[in-house]
Amino acid sequence: MSYRDLIKAKLNIGQELLYLSMQDVLDTGITVNEVLELTEKAMIAYSSKNAEMPAKIGLHPQPDSLMHAMPAYLPEEMACGIKWGSNFPTNRERYPELPSTNCQIIYNDYETGLPLAFLDATWITEVRTPAVSLVATKYLANPDATTFGMFGCGIQGRAHVKMIEHVLPKLEKIYVYDLFESAMDQLIEQCQPHVRAKIVKASSCEEVAKSSEVIASAIPIHHTPHPIVKSEWISKGQTLITCDCHSVYEDEVYKKADIYTVDSEEQHRLLETYGYYPWGLPLIYAETGAVAGGHKPGRTSKDQLIVSNNVGMAVEDIIIARRVFDKALELEIGLKLPLWKRSK
Ligand SMILES: NC(=O)c1ccc[n+]([C@@H]2O[C@H](COP(=O)([O-])OP(=O)(O)OC[C@H]3O[C@@H](n4cnc5c(N)ncnc54)[C@H](O)[C@@H]3O)[C@@H](O)[C@H]2O)c1
Repeated sequence: MSYRDLIKAKLNIGQELLYLSMQDVLDTGITVNEVLELTEKAMIAYSSKNAEMPAKIGLHPQPDSLMHAMPAYLPEEMACGIKWGSNFPTNRERYPELPSTNCQIIYNDYETGLPLAFLDATWITEVRTPAVSLVATKYLANPDATTFGMFGCGIQGRAHVKMIEHVLPKLEKIYVYDLFESAMDQLIEQCQPHVRAKIVKASSCEEVAKSSEVIASAIPIHHTPHPIVKSEWISKGQTLITCDCHSVYEDEVYKKADIYTVDSEEQHRLLETYGYYPWGLPLIYAETGAVAGGHKPGRTSKDQLIVSNNVGMAVEDIIIARRVFDKALELEIGLKLPLWKRSK
């Protein structure tokens, strides 16, 4: 039976779609290991030109907020759709009961374009983003690293810390830093039971920068960066993984890196036209997926300073959406909603 016939056996394509809440997505039982495997596959497919994914466009209704439209088609997966994702850092003060990041996906039938599912993608985003950082770490960092640093202890900070030992199994210390003491406390409370390494509340950005061989960052993206890490604190041999674009480091750090990778060159060049790299886009060595796919070597010496800047790609969301959708159909999870009702 073809993939599409399998879907048709469970869903009346064109007449209804499957609605999946965040809880439904979790109830499918999709695992972090599956997300890791699918994310790497999607990054490689994109950088091998086996996917269609235009650079994301966005709206900015509040200062430093973003709402991104992210479509993708992966022919080998027979998967296509679009994510509509937002980050509003000011929710923290203005609407403390609401998260700063929220996302939804419309998952479409690749043969007819009709919608198959509308699903909450907040959890998918929460987990696939550190999964990208883990792919970058796997190919670009020293696997024997014993120290890891995390800038930003929000949703992404916590998810990164929980997952990092998948690729850095020898970690002994994890240094975390946030503007808010309460965010660091919350991270330690939530993450320490899940990791072997000791999580240490750093007293300053400088401490994290100077103490960690591998550093990830997830703080709000300001249109004009206000770097929190000075170039002089960063040395050869470190690996810096960012999912927050140009937010954390002084520009000189990117420019002095021996290797600078991005998830999508097209995306970063578009961001530059929006004014995101006011000091100019650093020299791009390769896409992170091209390194993961073996098209370009990753780290070749312990002394290299490597920066990997991955702002998120729709291919990662859509490949996971397909897995979630398939599992939901199989397990009969979710609510079938009519697409239209004819008037009689
Ligand atoms: N690359 C991707 O695919 C991707 C996906 C999701 C989110 N993001 C980005 O990751 C970032 C974090 O997202 P989140 O959902 O974790 O948000 P969040 O609001 O949950 O967490 C952000 C944390 O950063 C802290 N922070 C703010 N300014 C800081 C500073 N100057 N120094 C240290 N800490 C600071 C905040 O106190 C907060 O705890 C955002 O920029 C978001 O756009 C990227």
